[in-house]
Amino acid sequence: MPNARISGIGRYVPPLVVTNEDLTQRMDTSDDWIQQRTGIRQRHYSEGDVGAADMGAIAAEEALQRAGIKRDDLDCVIFSTLSPDFDMPSSACVLQERLGIGGMPAFDVRNQCSGFLYSLATANAFVKAGRFARVLVVGGEVHSTGIDITTRGRDVAVIFGDGAAAAVVEATDDPRKGILTTHLHAEGKYAEKLWLEFVSARQRPRLTEEMLANDSPRVFPRMEGRYVFKHAIQRFTEVINEALDAAGYTIADVDLLIPHQANLRISQMVALGFELPEEKVFNNIQRYGNTTAASIGLALYEAIEEGRVHDGSLVCLAAFGAGFTWASALIRW
Ligand code: ACO
Repeated sequence: MPNARISGIGRYVPPLVVTNEDLTQRMDTSDDWIQQRTGIRQRHYSEGDVGAADMGAIAAEEALQRAGIKRDDLDCVIFSTLSPDFDMPSSACVLQERLGIGGMPAFDVRNQCSGFLYSLATANAFVKAGRFARVLVVGGEVHSTGIDITTRGRDVAVIFGDGAAAAVVEATDDPRKGILTTHLHAEGKYAEKLWLEFVSARQRPRLTEEMLANDSPRVFPRMEGRYVFKHAIQRFTEVINEALDAAGYTIADVDLLIPHQANLRISQMVALGFELPEEKVFNNIQRYGNTTAASIGLALYEAIEEGRVHDGSLVCLAAFGAGFTWASALIRW
């Protein structure tokens, strides 16, 4: 059975930087409030008619180049996003078109902040089963066009940013390296704790004045922040332990933990629970906000660039998000 490893990684963030101070022009909030609760200082917003697949394509080009393979070498494309370019077709298909490739399977994974790890686990399974040798995994989000950037929506709006990341998952014969284990979970009973109700196949209204005037309009994401916060810490911890147990490691063996960048305070509390020193946890939410399906890829990219992931490193990826869903992966680099 071949092993699966990440052979190349890429990313893209749009150039427009939106600081906390910028947001104070649009809503009643403050740099202090945002930094204290979330650690976020700024995020990037796309401009004009840019979709998740446009950003994903740029990230994918870099990942392919770093993996040293051509677009046509890909056997499968998996795109994770909560903000697909269109209801149909999938952003994976739009991405294929952007990359000028076709024929191989392409599909979306819609699992929000856990999406990148769900996609990675799917790619890993395909490769280990010998079905595909090279799978492109992309996470991309355009949040900026879908959030309520007013005081009404401030609890959600301040945490999200736009961006994309991509990874090439490739077969390797080296049994010591690659994705060691992956763990995926979901509990749909919490779906309404963090959700976007309209517009959907079930509810496809024309937006009315009444809907927009509502105190908590259903056309924007809504979240029970404190509820989500507590669950996030519990599930991150559980799923990290699950990966360690499955692979026969302890937290002391981990060289770097890369949590999904939901909130710096969540990452810090998870790290505290494991008694992990700061240098063993990677965070970049301060500069990007929560980029949902792109966040783990963006963080992994920067961790490699900064030399914090290198040959032989044991890296733990973990995610928690809407659904609720949560996931982990342990990788020997
Ligand atoms: N600026 C100023 N004040 C604000 C803001 C803001 N941006 N947002 C909320 N407030 C106010 C509220 O109105 C409230 O005021 P009140 O006490 O007068 O009623 C007060 O601040 C506290 O509000 P809370 O919502 O309780 O704030 P909390 O401390 O919970 O922080 C936060 C909010 C940062 C969103 C936090 O709950 C959180 O990070 N939750 C988890 C997010 C997460 O992990 N999501 C999962 C991944 S996302 C995905 O999958 C799509």
